[in-house]
Amino acid sequence: MKAEQGLRFEKSQILVSCGAKHSLYNLAEALLEAGDEVIIPAYTYVSTANAFELRGAKLVLCDSSNYSPNIDLNKLEALITPRTKAIVVIHYGGISVNMYKLQDIAQKHKVTLIEDAAHAVDAYFDDARLGTFGDMATFSFHETKNITCGQGGVLLINKPEWVERARILRDCGTNRHNFVLGLVDKYTWVDVGSVFNLSELHCSYLFPQLEFLESITRKRVELWEHYYQALAPLQEQGLLKLPFVSDSSRHNAHIFYMVLNTSSERDRLLRYLKDKGVVATFHYSGLHQCPYYHKKYRKVQLTNAEKFSGRLLRLPLYYDLSFEEQRYVLDCIADFFHEHNRTKPAAAALFHLPVYVNLALDEAVSAMSVVNNLFVAAL
Ligand SMILES: Cc1ncc(COP(=O)(O)O)c(C=O)c1O
Repeated sequence: MKAEQGLRFEKSQILVSCGAKHSLYNLAEALLEAGDEVIIPAYTYVSTANAFELRGAKLVLCDSSNYSPNIDLNKLEALITPRTKAIVVIHYGGISVNMYKLQDIAQKHKVTLIEDAAHAVDAYFDDARLGTFGDMATFSFHETKNITCGQGGVLLINKPEWVERARILRDCGTNRHNFVLGLVDKYTWVDVGSVFNLSELHCSYLFPQLEFLESITRKRVELWEHYYQALAPLQEQGLLKLPFVSDSSRHNAHIFYMVLNTSSERDRLLRYLKDKGVVATFHYSGLHQCPYYHKKYRKVQLTNAEKFSGRLLRLPLYYDLSFEEQRYVLDCIADFFHEHNRTKPAAAALFHLPVYVNLALDEAVSAMSVVNNLFVAAL
């Protein structure tokens, strides 16, 4: 089963892997020596950090920008030292920073650029797929992602000279790939590796989603746009901030988030939505705010990452979310702000959305379980 076919990355080599994080361990193994520094975002999932921490690298955390959870390119250069081996970025919610600017910084300082593109399958910057700008990139097919096989991922290698070693590391440190190609009559142990393959079973679950990737993205983007348009009046009233998307970004609607004015208001809204049967969520704790980081590194303050940790809220967004369910979520948000901030009532007047058929409340509530439906269908 060739699950890599559905992604069609020109000029990149794709290695299907048992997890984006495993791919990163894999590549980190090949890149690093103890004491090397790796710059990663403070606002990210721990997998980004563990990949390099496990190999003895020193983590250097870059703050988010004021207007986006992604790293602040203006702060990045000051963090580069002669020991810096790699810069890792994430594309939060499938939205990237200016990738040309980032490439320029990496090239100028001769450091490896790695995209943790866990959020970014089928997302673009300036018409090129995210994942093709760095020397390497990883994608995640974890159950929370736009397409999923429960756990899984892909390692994308854009440097031809690294492909052979990555194949060996993936295959238990053997040259099995050459055996499969018929280049050797038996395979043997040539390096230290592990089992980074994705099973056939996982591939078979993932494959149809790769084939339907465009329509999956289209539906998600439609839902994302509805949220954005409906919530824009609240942004205009200064009650919250919506995602910033530059003209060069074509995102994949991986996440719809909003940023509240205070963390207590974020928490109140989370509770309010929960009481109404809407599962909204938040993440990440800045890595510098985590106990492990405190224990090992010094305490640092990264104000923008902390702002997103404290104030960001994610709304339900998944392929099978219906427009009626989405309207219910929006109505709940309108009611919350009306009750707490005395905005105008009547969600339909507040939100410039077509009014969809209204569901009975209990029907809408029960339909509101925010589990990835594709994943559930497999169980
Ligand atoms: C930014 C980021 N990187 C990496 C991962 C981990 O991906 P995986 O679990 O497939 O290794 C996630 C989330 O699951 C993530 O949000």
